[in-house]
Amino acid sequence: MAGGAVVVIDVLRATTTIVHALAAGARAVVPCLEIADARALAEKLLSDRILLGGEREGVPIEGFDLGNSPEEYCSERVDGKTILLTTTNGTRALIHARQADEILVGAFVNASAVARRLFDREHIHILCSGTDGKISEDDVLLAGMLVERIQRQGGMVYQQNSQAITAREIWMNSFATPQALGAEPLDPDRLAAELRKSLGAQNLLALGFDEDILTASEIDRFDLTPQFDPLTFRITKMEE
Ligand code: MLT
Repeated sequence: MAGGAVVVIDVLRATTTIVHALAAGARAVVPCLEIADARALAEKLLSDRILLGGEREGVPIEGFDLGNSPEEYCSERVDGKTILLTTTNGTRALIHARQADEILVGAFVNASAVARRLFDREHIHILCSGTDGKISEDDVLLAGMLVERIQRQGGMVYQQNSQAITAREIWMNSFATPQALGAEPLDPDRLAAELRKSLGAQNLLALGFDEDILTASEIDRFDLTPQFDPLTFRITKMEE
């Protein structure tokens, strides 16, 4: 990924949660690989501006301030705070991407904002976090939407690998053409119905987090793009 731009995706739920946190006024999100890393950093920073968030096996971590439900990250809780976030797959994927020149955070809730940022980039990687090492359709759908947008509206002719072509086909085949092309609005309920079929959704549904799937389907709710800076290890809002 060195030399390219990467967009890291974990629709259910880590990247959706990161977008929510920054939209609600969090100063930064710091991805942590392990629970112990997050706890150690919190102890070191010793600040009332720090919150611990994340999940293991989908459920909030004992002693942490927040779980991984996007709506928990509201301004009343996170405004002005730095969130130390550790999740099973999403934060891992972010850290994995740290060699890239530019690391963006994508979800359906900020899909158009992310796509716009990528329009003039020469090398683009779309990194789908998946679920426990397996492909998850929620991420593939967003990847397909981004491929479609970048290919049609971006300033370059891109050579796509087979995964990109397949993701785009899955996206186009999942919705009626005007919705898939963004020419007509895509109903969040319709997107949620598709996301529910994914591997990532199965665990969430079993735990009673259906509301989070609906939240993750609110396409373009936010016009912001989080960017991960591996030098400072902070994810912050990109400037307009
Ligand atoms: C992940 O990073 O794998 C997700 O956060 C899983 C989840 O939301 O439960």
